[in-house]
Amino acid sequence: MLNIENLCCGYGSAMVLHELDLHVNEAEVVALIGPNGAGKTSTLQCIAGHVRARSGSVLFGGKDLGPLPPQKRVLEGIALSPEGRKLFGDMTVRENLVVGGYSRPRQATARNMQRVLDLFPRLSERIDSLGRTLSGGEQQMVAIGRALMAEPKLLLIDELSLGLMPKNVDICYQALRRLREDGIAVLLVEQNLSKALEFSDRAYVLTSGRLAWSGTSEAARSRRDLVESILGHGSAEAQPQEAELAA
Ligand SMILES: Nc1ncnc2c1ncn2[C@@H]1O[C@H](COP(=O)(O)OP(=O)(O)O)[C@@H](O)[C@H]1O
Ligand SMILES: [Mg+2]
Repeated sequence: MLNIENLCCGYGSAMVLHELDLHVNEAEVVALIGPNGAGKTSTLQCIAGHVRARSGSVLFGGKDLGPLPPQKRVLEGIALSPEGRKLFGDMTVRENLVVGGYSRPRQATARNMQRVLDLFPRLSERIDSLGRTLSGGEQQMVAIGRALMAEPKLLLIDELSLGLMPKNVDICYQALRRLREDGIAVLLVEQNLSKALEFSDRAYVLTSGRLAWSGTSEAARSRRDLVESILGHGSAEAQPQEAELAA
């Protein structure tokens, strides 16, 4: 479904992705892991159209996304839940979700919002709360929900578990399981190596903007020592998790 070949991108004179090859099949969960600064966010931003490719190709369902601006990519079926969640803090949960559905017909809003609330029942209780009053876990649910309002075929999630309490990490991963059952593919950037490998079908390891390893997540689990050695000084998982703000 998503097919990236030889992708190079950068900022100004600095190149940060070098000849990346990556693909995602329908209803597949694919993990993109790597140390800080490896180029994970840049990869997702390039797929979503916020960062321009310098060379190489990004095909989605056989169509070249190269010339398409971000909003057209949403219409093609790609939605991003960005690093740091980036909610509208002065808007309610409901309003944040409605914004995510701007590309769909207005009649679809209620149905899609119900699907998000079924996936994350906690958000029903917070539906009229302002974005900035939510805990990190609730914010992540809204960010994923907002992306789902666009009815994507491929969901890009940047740093799913970073800074969340374990309970909320589990809720988000359960949601991914259900999305896969519904046929939605996920490209997941994750610092938590165990979670990423447990829940994904395949994994790519990126270091300094280059592909260092790729294969099935099962293979990565059985060669975890290899993956960790590629990631360098222990896995990124060893980094302390920020305490999550209480709701
Ligand atoms: N907007 C930007 N302008 C300039 N350099 C950037 C920008 N965003 C990221 N970079 C650089 O690109 C590299 C890859 O960053 P990023 O894609 O955010 O990595 P990751 O998500 O794996 O931590 C880093 O060296 C980072 O400093
Ligand atoms: Mg990042």
